[in-house]
Formats: sequence, C-alpha cells, structure tokens
Amino acid sequence: MKKGLIATIAMLALSAFATTGFADTKKGEKIDGAKEFKEHCAVCHPDGGNIVNPKKTLSKKDREANGIKSVKDLVQNMRKPGPGMTPFDAKAISDKEAKAIAEYILKTFK
Ligand code: HEC
Repeated sequence: MKKGLIATIAMLALSAFATTGFADTKKGEKIDGAKEFKEHCAVCHPDGGNIVNPKKTLSKKDREANGIKSVKDLVQNMRKPGPGMTPFDAKAISDKEAKAIAEYILKTFK
C-alpha cells in the first residue's frame, strides 16, 4: 500500500518534469524568444529596425513586402538570409530557439 503510493508520487513528479519541457532545453529553462533575439539579432535589428539595410526592417509592412509572413518563413530567413545578414545554422540557433525568436518577432514588431 505505502510502496504503491510512493511509486505513484514518483511517477507524477516525473511526468510533471516531462510536460513542463524541462527536458528539452539545454539549460533546463524555457526558451525566451526576447532574450534570444537580443543575443543574436539585436546588433543589426535594434527595436526591430535594420542598421545595415534600413529598407528591410522587421516591421510587418517590410517583412510581408518581402514574403516573410509566418514562423516558418522567419526560420527559413535565419537559415538562409539575404545579403548582409549572418546565416544562423542549427548549431548557432536550434530549431526551437529559432521558432521562439520568430514568435517574438511576429508578436512584437507590427
Ligand atoms: C550582421 C547583421 C544582422 C544580424 C546579426 C541579423 N540580421 Fe536580419 N537582416 C540583416 C540584413 C542586412 C537584412 C536584409 C537582407 C536582405 O537584403 O534580404 C536582414 C533581413 C532580415 C529579415 C527580413 C526583413 C525584411 O523586411 O525583409 C528578417 C526577418 C531578419 N533579418 C531576421 C533576423 C533575425 C531573426 C536575426 C537573429 C537570429 C537576424 N535577422 C540577425 C542583418 C542582420
């Protein structure tokens, strides 16, 4: 009876770990799109601008004029950007991080 209870608690604890996403990031914390953006992108895109090519900011208007509309488009753009932008492969920015950055851009720069 007691053993069964302990086993149940252990299993609950384990599944709580698994569902909070604890297991899928390196540092054991949730990916913060804003933080990743600051780290990798803000040098050239401060506040969603573009210091290298001011015509290609991250604003919705500029992005959509260039066909970059969804999370998928944004991730693709990070992997294979246009001239003047650093390409980011999966080693530099994992798929999960890239998605978090993309979601941050979509919701932040209108
Ligand atoms: C070294 C400077 C630099 C860095 C770092 C950089 N970019 Fe860029 N980015 C550019 C330039 C230059 C362009 C315009 C490229 C072109 O002509 O298509 C651009 C274009 C873009 C565009 C298309 C904007 C539009 O209006 O068409 C997106 C989206 C974008 N960058 C996202 C990112 C993200 C996300 C990161 C970080 C993971 C990042 N960039 C890091 C320089 C940079």
